[in-house]
Amino acid sequence: MCGIVGYIGHRKVTPIIVEGIKRLEYRGYDSSGLAIIDKNGELKIHKKLGKIIELERTLPAPSELEGTLGIAHTRWATHGKPTEVNAHPHTCCHGKIAVVHNGIIENYRNLRKKLESENHTIKSETDTEILVHLIEHFEHETKDLTAAVQQALKLVEGTYGIAVISSDHPRKIVAARKGSPLIFGIGRDEFFVTSDVSAIIIHTKRVIYLKDDEIVTIEPDHFEITTLDNKVVKAKISEVDWDVSSIEKGEFKHFMLKEIFEQPVSVENAFRGRLVSELSSVRLGGLNMTGEELRSIERLQIVACGTSWHAALIGKYIIENIARVPVEVEYASEYRYRNPIVPPHTPVFFISQSGETADTLAALYKAKAKGALAYGITNTIGSTIARESDGGVYIHAGAEIGVASTKAFTSQVTILTLLAVLLGRMRNLAPTFGAAFIKELQKIPQKIQQILDDNDKILEIAKTLVASKNALYLGRGVNFPVALEGALKLKEISYIHAEGYPAAEMKHGPIALIDENMPVVAIAPDDVIYDKIISNLQEVKARNGRIISIATEGDKRIIEHSENVIYIPKTMQTLQPLLSVIPLQLLAYHVANLRGLDVDQPRNLAKSVTVE
Ligand code: G6P
Repeated sequence: MCGIVGYIGHRKVTPIIVEGIKRLEYRGYDSSGLAIIDKNGELKIHKKLGKIIELERTLPAPSELEGTLGIAHTRWATHGKPTEVNAHPHTCCHGKIAVVHNGIIENYRNLRKKLESENHTIKSETDTEILVHLIEHFEHETKDLTAAVQQALKLVEGTYGIAVISSDHPRKIVAARKGSPLIFGIGRDEFFVTSDVSAIIIHTKRVIYLKDDEIVTIEPDHFEITTLDNKVVKAKISEVDWDVSSIEKGEFKHFMLKEIFEQPVSVENAFRGRLVSELSSVRLGGLNMTGEELRSIERLQIVACGTSWHAALIGKYIIENIARVPVEVEYASEYRYRNPIVPPHTPVFFISQSGETADTLAALYKAKAKGALAYGITNTIGSTIARESDGGVYIHAGAEIGVASTKAFTSQVTILTLLAVLLGRMRNLAPTFGAAFIKELQKIPQKIQQILDDNDKILEIAKTLVASKNALYLGRGVNFPVALEGALKLKEISYIHAEGYPAAEMKHGPIALIDENMPVVAIAPDDVIYDKIISNLQEVKARNGRIISIATEGDKRIIEHSENVIYIPKTMQTLQPLLSVIPLQLLAYHVANLRGLDVDQPRNLAKSVTVE
């Protein structure tokens, strides 16, 4: 949600920061802008409504934008409509300071009144512009950009990742964070700031993840990190382990398609090094829990948003089924605003691809305030949720750029199956089950590949959905949350209304919608409730509903109930979601692509929702 990139060094700044925000465009894409200090020491700002390509098209000639220091921003509107005036960077009355900002300044109305009473002219509807006027005010007093930013931030309530430049300090970038990520990159004789490492890893993999209330002052040959009270901080330099290819589309038309096709590898990366054949169990070292602590767990809570919440629901089915530990799953946005009961011996898990989702983070703080131990399941090393947790598990899915989450989902589910087996083996789960699970999990990447090999067939079936206005996804048991996820994928990127339902619940409402115009996607693998779901499909067929079934290879019976069948390989029930979701991802992708939509950047959505 919004992206920041800043550069200071020896190279021409404009191409570097424009390229950088393009890599972050998946985070927000209603307007963009940049500010540089040009070769004459003047602040130059350019902003544009729409995608970054519009900004690029309208930039002045390179000779007019020459400089080696600048900041850029891509926006997802929160305060104020997407307009050029509301786009970042924002500047102050004398026009010498520019600020880009992610997050929300909660007390901006009061600050705005105060600034206006002191004759500041506020031009936009944004909360961000308040910041730059505050900095102007304190810079006038202190003549020091870092001190001015420190003073200004002390008055601010809310969250921010910011980068600030000023033509009065033409060799300096000041950046700070609170509750919104800000990363400082160290290159060779050059430095970067960004809200997301994918913007800068083609330049450097050496980074410092700023902590809340830290502020970095960067000059061409020197940097210093301090607190808002100006205490010097000795920060740790980390090495980003992402490969540059993970942020390139390669031969694929869209990131989403590339990420769907990466799943044989990303799922393997999630379990690699975590299977312990000798014990017929698994190891999750990042949990930092002893065997005794794992055995003392009486129940679990799992809190998440969006696709991660669907993964959590699958986790509930699996953990309860094989570890016999009760699990409650909750939306983070609900958890944070009620008075949740966290009984003793109940660790709370927070699942988040980005590790930065505002609601999930707030829920984590709530659980901790209630004395619970918090564990993160995230994809992003050094993310706020990873740092604020008492322990956790990285899913190691690599950069996920498509707004609709795919590979992160299957990696999250993989981790939850590992957790289920770990908790189970600490209790009464038989070693034979643990051994069978390990053997079967190792086959899953190749089974995912087998489904991906059917992509052309799935594309043909997707053509039958293109003109639909609605779709119903049905599943039972562990495949009910898969139905929810399939429906979410379709609506997110193709804008077709879709709902996921437990198949048997259909007769309590949605059946009223069934006619020849209502496609039904049924997840009907060969398992203990197969016959039940066949009955549900008969109910659909009797009302002329068109059925696409996801069934186990070799199942001939399903054909008579379905207009189309997509086969998935046989696997144990615990692992079925890792296979059954793949055709649903591909169906959604092809429908959106056939409709000519912007698959990677669907309207109104953002990859990482760092505001409420
Ligand atoms: C946004 C994304 C979804 C994602 C959700 C939760 O809505 O568009 O794809 O599932 O946030 O994100 P998280 O990073 O916490 O998993």
